[in-house]
Amino acid sequence: MHQNSNAQVHLHPPDHHSPGPVQEPTLNFSISQDSPTQLSADLLVVLATQEQLEAPAGSPLGAVAEVAGPSLLDVAKEEGFKAKAGQTLLARNVQGIAAPRVLLVGLGATADVTPADLHEAAARSTRKALKLRAANVAITLAHDDARNLSGACTGAAHGAYTYNNYRTPGEDDFGGVQTITIFSAQDAEAQLDATTKVNQGVKLARDLVNEPPLDLVPEKMAQVGREIAERHNLSVTIIEEAELQERGFNLIMAVGKGSDNPPRLVHLTYSPAGEVKHKIAFVGKGVTFDTGGYNIKTGGHMFNMHCDMGGGAAVLGAAEAIGALAPEGVEVHFIVPAAENSVSGNAMRPNDIYRGYGNQTVEIGNTDAEGRLILADALAYAQEQGVDTIIDLATLTGACVVALGDYTSGLFTDDQGLADELQAAIATTGEDFWRMPLHKKLDRQLDSSYADMKNIGQRAGGAITAALFLKRWVKIDRWAHMDIAAPAFAESETEAQAHGGTGFGVSTLAELAVSLGK
Ligand code: BES
Ligand code: MN
Ligand code: ZN
Repeated sequence: MHQNSNAQVHLHPPDHHSPGPVQEPTLNFSISQDSPTQLSADLLVVLATQEQLEAPAGSPLGAVAEVAGPSLLDVAKEEGFKAKAGQTLLARNVQGIAAPRVLLVGLGATADVTPADLHEAAARSTRKALKLRAANVAITLAHDDARNLSGACTGAAHGAYTYNNYRTPGEDDFGGVQTITIFSAQDAEAQLDATTKVNQGVKLARDLVNEPPLDLVPEKMAQVGREIAERHNLSVTIIEEAELQERGFNLIMAVGKGSDNPPRLVHLTYSPAGEVKHKIAFVGKGVTFDTGGYNIKTGGHMFNMHCDMGGGAAVLGAAEAIGALAPEGVEVHFIVPAAENSVSGNAMRPNDIYRGYGNQTVEIGNTDAEGRLILADALAYAQEQGVDTIIDLATLTGACVVALGDYTSGLFTDDQGLADELQAAIATTGEDFWRMPLHKKLDRQLDSSYADMKNIGQRAGGAITAALFLKRWVKIDRWAHMDIAAPAFAESETEAQAHGGTGFGVSTLAELAVSLGK
């Protein structure tokens, strides 16, 4: 059988306006002030700290345990449940509880509970609900305050996420988690509404990353950009290949040259009503597939490289969230250079020299260091928008994965004020970042014998030289680069999240935009 004979018959949703073969459920959140023991959900989740387990009286756990009698806490004790962070215990048919299953989820010691822990615990709850085929989930918070509520909402949405657009429907399909009821005495509708808008942005980013590179081509990124702009009344500019060429976006063009799917520069703008305090640009690497180019990726390194538009997905997700939130005081530019790094007789070669949009020349030292090339053009473009702050997100280097592990993004900036602002945003969203140095000494590795610079340095410190390459194109102080190569994509499923795109960065960007406008 000739593989090419059915090249046109690839399986994909007819078009992305219509749902795929398996309809994704919409997740509905609500707040309830009733007693959690009476609600007929499929699963009742009880989040609890170690202190609450030791002395339940007066806590939400205590209220549930009181109705349940000894059956619940005795079983927990027998099973060794100590409410440690990440620990869960499932009990079935607990007396006095309307829901047929109760899931106790540990948060650890009260003093140690971070927003990330809250997020993780809630995500584990709904991921477990998926496995149990529980469509309606009720959650009691360990502490009924705003922080716990938003942590539970974002975490629960995260854990419930599935991606089934490319699956053939089967008879036994479970429709996914459909409702989440959170017990709270707070007047939290406004907060729930804001959290839901951010969750939508996170979901959009995850869907984009998960879509196969056969369909998720640069033009598709542009199309999704147009749809977001339409939904939220943002202005939109898409620069297509002829104009990219004519206007001198030669580095974006160089990366896209080897592919039959031409590159795009996607630019959405949110403008608030009233006074503007900050003009910000979020710039995201949108490499829809990274083969490495002529410096082709070998071994297993090419697999999963559809995740290489994770920064661009985060920026479009942030546009979805910020467009819906409509914060005051900030103008936000969402800029995504999108290209496929492929091979052909026309692909860029090592030793080629291109002049970037920012009017400096680059010798290609390695065609697999493509992200920094498209970002260089996009960063130069971002600065033309008159912004005072630029944050870029990119799945930029394997070196950053090696340095920081699976869950942590590298944060590079020389601006202490911006670092502090980002840190404050991160502290509420629970996303994990670690500050990395922009060592000046390493910058000379980027000098080229023939051009203004080359696009690679030595192996050691590879995440830093990548950041230093970007810095050569940035003239404003308030610039930060986030290398999200690790956290943008989960290589396998865990108890808290599905395999694939994570939407990493969306909530922090949304939080930063909102806080800079205040
Ligand atoms: N997209 C990769 C980086 C990457 C690696 C993302 C692993 C996600 C997971 C990037 O374009 C790349 O290929 N970087 C090279 C740079 C090198 C050629 C200087 C790398 O990290 O090996
Ligand atoms: Mn690469
Ligand atoms: Zn790449």
